[in-house]
Amino acid sequence: GKIVVLASGRGTNLQALIDASKENYFNGYISLVISDNPRAYALERARLAGIPTVVLDYASFPSKKEYEKKLLAVLQEENPDLICLAGYMRILGKEIIKSFPHKIMNIHPSLLPAFPGLEAQKQAVEYGVKVSGCTVHFVDEGMDTGPIILQECCPVEDYDTPESLAERILQHEHRIYKEAVKLFLEGRLEVKGRKVLRKR
Ligand code: GRF
Repeated sequence: GKIVVLASGRGTNLQALIDASKENYFNGYISLVISDNPRAYALERARLAGIPTVVLDYASFPSKKEYEKKLLAVLQEENPDLICLAGYMRILGKEIIKSFPHKIMNIHPSLLPAFPGLEAQKQAVEYGVKVSGCTVHFVDEGMDTGPIILQECCPVEDYDTPESLAERILQHEHRIYKEAVKLFLEGRLEVKGRKVLRKR
């Protein structure tokens, strides 16, 4: 299986997927890492692992439309089996989502549908929930709304800050993202409406 990862930031989830592919945790490889941010440390991680990178510096495009057009062209050219969003900080356009139906995954640092959007860990701390966690889901046109593949929970401690909670959740993210990729590449995920069924 051929995987493309989109990342905007430090790339610890990308790193987890790189490490998993190196140890043959799943039967696939990351053929390309794309970033909208030329300063993303994720790009450095890709280079260190010998993975080709494409930088589509969002700021250098005249419009979102033009940016999306270029991104779609790069994705179509690469023609991956799976696209993984790993700290990719933009909403993907309709065209791209339609072009890769149920082939795009995202990882989100909350138990969706709680706390979608930005700063999910801060939202959880401020709300006062006692458990939170993370979610891997297929991407649809909404914001963190697509069919849920895997979730894992962890406690929220009384004196957690958004940062301490984020750190705890991240350990779970790295585990379930590679697991979701493994299930996908084994052809064991079946999407039925809102539900993702796990085939044996
Ligand atoms: C993670 O918390 C992920 O769930 C969210 O953005 C963060 C990215 O972290 N979508 P990293 O770049 O993978 O380290």
